[in-house]
Amino acid sequence: MNKQEQLSIIDNSTTYEVDKTQNKDHVATPRWVVENIYDLIDIKSFKMIWFPFNNYDSHFKLKADELNLQYKATHIFDNLGNDFFTTLPPKDCDLLISNPPFSQQNEIIKRSFELVELGLIKSFCLLLPLSTLETPKRAEIYEKYIDKLNILIFKKRIKFLGKATSFNTACCWVCYNIDSLKQKIIWI
Ligand SMILES: C[S@@+](CC[C@H](N)C(=O)[O-])C[C@H]1O[C@@H](n2cnc3c(N)ncnc32)[C@H](O)[C@@H]1O
Repeated sequence: MNKQEQLSIIDNSTTYEVDKTQNKDHVATPRWVVENIYDLIDIKSFKMIWFPFNNYDSHFKLKADELNLQYKATHIFDNLGNDFFTTLPPKDCDLLISNPPFSQQNEIIKRSFELVELGLIKSFCLLLPLSTLETPKRAEIYEKYIDKLNILIFKKRIKFLGKATSFNTACCWVCYNIDSLKQKIIWI
């Protein structure tokens, strides 16, 4: 690694530590939420997983390490500055799973279905605000893929890591093409 590359890693990790404390979109997922969804979707049945909004400290990644899963974790502030919208999934990716920045949800939902259409991912699970089910624009997209869609609704609000209780958004998982999910709507 040359000096330029070393400096870039230091720059990005500093930016990440600052961003975590300031960015309203940085909402870290607690371990129980990760363990719960991994059980529900039978995470071990997936051969190559992509965590596109996950840096070194994400529980999605840490739990995947414990389970010896095959995965690639990328994040806008990792050493390559991996932007979800321009980064390609790992080869033979059969699952994208993450808690994405809610403020960009429309573009992220669109891009996730685009990756499915391109054959670059087989399935996905996105943790989103419950209000993702609203709006004509999003409804039109979800209706198009309704056959393989499952919605998992949290009965209780999630207390996200490092957030004051004032961040108190109702959430759900929007899952596409997950074999283990047998009902369209599931309360968890
Ligand atoms: C809701 S947080 C989730 C963090 C982590 N996935 C977790 O669940 O603990 C979303 C993260 O995505 C990052 N992010 C924002 N835009 C991004 C992009 N275009 N590509 C990749 N990561 C992005 C934010 O900096 C933020 O840390």
